[in-house]
Amino acid sequence: MSTVIVSQEELLRHNSVLSSLKNRIAASSLERGHALTYRVKTYGCQLNESDSEKIEGILRSIGLIEASEEAIPDFLILNTCTIRENADVRLFGNLGAYKSQKKQNRDMFIAVCGCMMKQPENIERIKKSFPFVDACFGPSDIHLLPDILDRKLSQKKRVFSVSDEDYLVDDTDIPVEHKRKFRALVPIMYGCNNFCTYCVVPYTRGRERSRSSEKILAQLRELASQGYKEVMLLGQNVNSYGHDREGEISFAELLKEAASIPGFSRIRFMTSHPKDISDEVIYTMQKYPNIERHLHLPMQSGSSEILSRMNRHYDREQYLKTALLFRKCLPDATLTTDIIVGFPGETEEDFQATLDVVAECRFDSAFTFQYSRRPGTKAASYPDQIPQDVVTERFGRLLALQNDLTFASNESVVGKTEEILIEGRSATAPDVLTGRTNSNRLVNFRIPSGTKFQGNLIDTTAEDFDADKFEGLLAMVHITRAKPYSVEGELVSFIDE
Ligand code: SAH
Ligand code: SF4
Ligand code: F3S
Repeated sequence: MSTVIVSQEELLRHNSVLSSLKNRIAASSLERGHALTYRVKTYGCQLNESDSEKIEGILRSIGLIEASEEAIPDFLILNTCTIRENADVRLFGNLGAYKSQKKQNRDMFIAVCGCMMKQPENIERIKKSFPFVDACFGPSDIHLLPDILDRKLSQKKRVFSVSDEDYLVDDTDIPVEHKRKFRALVPIMYGCNNFCTYCVVPYTRGRERSRSSEKILAQLRELASQGYKEVMLLGQNVNSYGHDREGEISFAELLKEAASIPGFSRIRFMTSHPKDISDEVIYTMQKYPNIERHLHLPMQSGSSEILSRMNRHYDREQYLKTALLFRKCLPDATLTTDIIVGFPGETEEDFQATLDVVAECRFDSAFTFQYSRRPGTKAASYPDQIPQDVVTERFGRLLALQNDLTFASNESVVGKTEEILIEGRSATAPDVLTGRTNSNRLVNFRIPSGTKFQGNLIDTTAEDFDADKFEGLLAMVHITRAKPYSVEGELVSFIDE
């Protein structure tokens, strides 16, 4: 595999394919008597979410509109993940259901893309067992989507287009449809060079390739001028940003530049690899209040022996040093992590070491995973795989400890008044809003009666109360109660009506 920078000529050619597709879609819409629709279903991480925003951008630019929740769309794209075995199982489990949808809408176009497509056995399975799937493409082939649609629509043949090249197309050269009106996902780099022995990502996403900081910062300035309040800088290991570009600035410098752009209330970033995070990143977070008060620092294991077998290039002491520096510099911030239980060869002592570090770091929350054996990775061939019953038992103990810590963390903010970025209606009740603090804590809150918005009284009990109109606003919320995975509160005031 090698990095291929997509040329401007190539992009111009894609644009001309886009215009001819647009004409074709317009003609089809007329013929069928309705505007053609699309749905993009996304599995996996924020990088996949970001890819889906580009896929949506392309589909909208050819004149498709998003299908309503109940409707069968004319174009369905499934953007897959293969990080753990259950991700694959879920996709194949769901795929069958679309066969009957296609029976109801014979002209439906179904494509499967994303990380699962980089495993040839998945492509073979789709070719053989899912003949109603019209196209498959890989995670670095999104800019080729216009070509794929064009080929399928003109030749009526199935298209399988998963390239070996690691394409680098700048994000600003592809249309993007941001899912949330207040948040923009901004990849700063693609791929991963780390080859942690359990992980498929280096195989699915190829080698690290950073975007130019000049282009990233120009994009950020544009997003700020469009009114986005939050940006999320994305990469599998943002702390190695720029290492593949000669003379490029470091991640800490990029963060400083981003934080100095007026307009953003929150700058978030994901993910930090403990081997590469510099103290400078932590000092930068301390200095700029518009950088989220939250660090996600995946630990994976608290045992130095296991970390070495995972090829993580840090040990327990180095991890603790970074975590404790972060706690010291930003005492009100949250620290979260990822942990894998049951990595091959993990002894009870190794697992105990993980519990010890969890207790010492007092993570505010953690994503905990049972080790999943991924074909093609180094650890899949390790002889000392752990029996499932041992993994389940250890997993239960870790979860119990972390749940206590998460609840204690939520309790620690009860009684405080915090700035919330409102995300919309809460899943808990129609008259409750949901949002996040600057430390990424989930807050469900009520609006007390008598509260005014833009001069009018808000009636949350009214039938036509529309919680979503508050999406993207900042508000002060008094935190009243801790729940296991969130907190509850009451609105004090809107900051920017
Ligand atoms: N680039 C990020 C992680 C991306 S994958 C980093 O290095 O921190 C997200 C998480 O999935 C990982 O942190 C890891 O905890 C988990 N994960 C990855 N492969 C896994 C596997 N084979 N089994 C179980 N969990 C896995
Ligand atoms: Fe996977 Fe490791 Fe790369 Fe993260 S750093 S994506 S865990 S290989
Ligand atoms: Fe999944 Fe690919 Fe992300 S495997 S976690 S979608 S990089």
